[in-house]
Amino acid sequence: MAPPTTPSPRKSPPHVYFLAVIPVLLAALFLARPDALPSLFSPDHAASSSSSSSSSSSTTASGMITGPHVLPALPYAYDALEPYFDKETMELHHARHHQTYVHNLNAALHRLSQAQAPESSASELLSSLSVHELLRNLDKVPAALRTAIRNSAGGHANHALFWRGLKKGTSLDQIAPQQGHDPEAEGAVRVTSLQHALERNFGSVEAFQAQFEKAAASVFGSGWAWLVHVPASASDLEGLSDAAESGRDARAWIGKNGFLKLVTTANQDSPLMGPEYVTVVAGGGSSSGVMAPIIGLDVWEHAYYLKFQNRRPDYINAFWEVVNWEEASRLYVDALLDNN
Ligand SMILES: [Fe+2]
Repeated sequence: MAPPTTPSPRKSPPHVYFLAVIPVLLAALFLARPDALPSLFSPDHAASSSSSSSSSSSTTASGMITGPHVLPALPYAYDALEPYFDKETMELHHARHHQTYVHNLNAALHRLSQAQAPESSASELLSSLSVHELLRNLDKVPAALRTAIRNSAGGHANHALFWRGLKKGTSLDQIAPQQGHDPEAEGAVRVTSLQHALERNFGSVEAFQAQFEKAAASVFGSGWAWLVHVPASASDLEGLSDAAESGRDARAWIGKNGFLKLVTTANQDSPLMGPEYVTVVAGGGSSSGVMAPIIGLDVWEHAYYLKFQNRRPDYINAFWEVVNWEEASRLYVDALLDNN
């Protein structure tokens, strides 16, 4: 079965396409106010122009830009993952590091709003996007803001996924057979389980874990290790022989379920940004499709240094004690439904 060739409506809400008009709006702004765009790129612009704000953000007395993005509350206490992930690191990581990415993202959007004429809607369009939509449309963000958005939106999205992906006591083999509800189809759609998909793609769950550990340990400097889902492309399926029953079965299964892959990203890059932002470590497929994160592990030193010092492998081993298989399975079902 050939994979669908049209993008899922979930991944591309209609208003995302308005991003295409941003360069036009900026050009029009430049013609109307030639002094405005250069000031957008001034590093002290935000500090020097805090007297006004966009409709979706405000500046506190301490200079903090609030909105449109907010730090999500943890769905558990800071000490909930003890003794594997310690309370002090969790609090510092969430309340300081993640908060900084949120602040920097809001500040970048605020700088854009301050540089534009009040009637301009380019900044409002950007501010109206979810953080995932921003990541999927980085190429449409004005070039001078792209690095700031890439780092801060990536940091915000990556950490939000990371927190939800942590929970003590879950077990992959105790998760009920997966049934997802596709709002565009009638009734529930039965999909394969994450456990079965890991076995199909990596040989066994244990083999997947060993390769994930190797990938996470191999990240040079700061970055992330990911398990992602990628839909099968037409060329992926053409490469599978259908001469034998096993070949036809494989083509049908992969056509329906796609691939699971292990990838790494540098700094705060996200697989949601696109294939060009990841390094593929393991897994089949052409890697050209939309990547949906299933599991993400932060391997920046700030994630583990207080407890594990420089022993990153020990931190990676501790991760298996707190990985939230329920959340990973939910994300896998969502990825399947988005591509079927
Ligand atoms: Fe982090």
